[in-house]
Amino acid sequence: MKRIRLGVNIDHVATVRNARGENYPSPLKAALLAEKNGADSVTIHLREDRRHINDQDLKKIIKKLKIPLNLEIAATREMLKIASNSKPPFICIVPEKRKEITTEGGLNLNHNETFLKNLIKKLKKKKIRISLFIEPSLKDIQKAKKLNVDCVEIHTGKFCNLINKKKNYKNELKKIKKVVKIGNLLGLEVHAGHGLTYTSAKILSKIKGIVEFNIGHFLIGESIFVGLSKGIKTFKKILKS
Ligand code: PXP
Repeated sequence: MKRIRLGVNIDHVATVRNARGENYPSPLKAALLAEKNGADSVTIHLREDRRHINDQDLKKIIKKLKIPLNLEIAATREMLKIASNSKPPFICIVPEKRKEITTEGGLNLNHNETFLKNLIKKLKKKKIRISLFIEPSLKDIQKAKKLNVDCVEIHTGKFCNLINKKKNYKNELKKIKKVVKIGNLLGLEVHAGHGLTYTSAKILSKIKGIVEFNIGHFLIGESIFVGLSKGIKTFKKILKS
């Protein structure tokens, strides 16, 4: 049976930490826990506004993590500098809008193309695996190939949304399948991510040719229910003694 790699996105551990300005829960602790429990990589998105993961998190995690760190960055001069200095093994280039709640769509590969090309070239020179976060579109996957990246990550947000709302997702699934097939034919490694839940990941895992899933928000949310009972029991014990 084929094995799909799991990249665990821990951004929202930092979201919870930052909500109170404390130093817990620790993204580093979460990264090491992901590693201990069989994650194939850990993903963090260092956003321009540092709303969750910050520069210190990146430094600490890259120092301690033994599995590959997948750093998501926007195509900006600042991020190019940070990525060139920290040299994570994997980089995924993502679009970023200041006001969005989350990464709302794939990259616009025609925007600032010269800069994007240059950024990819510079990071590839440092032997970093480069991925582009794209919509499930044939035009975009062909363009990604021309940009000489190693991988693409298909934005699964729309597909997952349809599933969550119990709407017809067949067309979106068809689009994803087609793009995965073309990506493989072009020699690109194809990944998938955004909005994945147990249900949507299960459906997409059946598509031959997707080799890596990056999952964050739902997984961190689910962890509350997996871990809450243990936390309550620990407090009960402390309060008894
Ligand atoms: N992949 C990429 C490129 C992302 O930017 C994100 C976060 O927006 C994810 C995967 C994970 O998405 P989610 O947190 O919805 O699982």
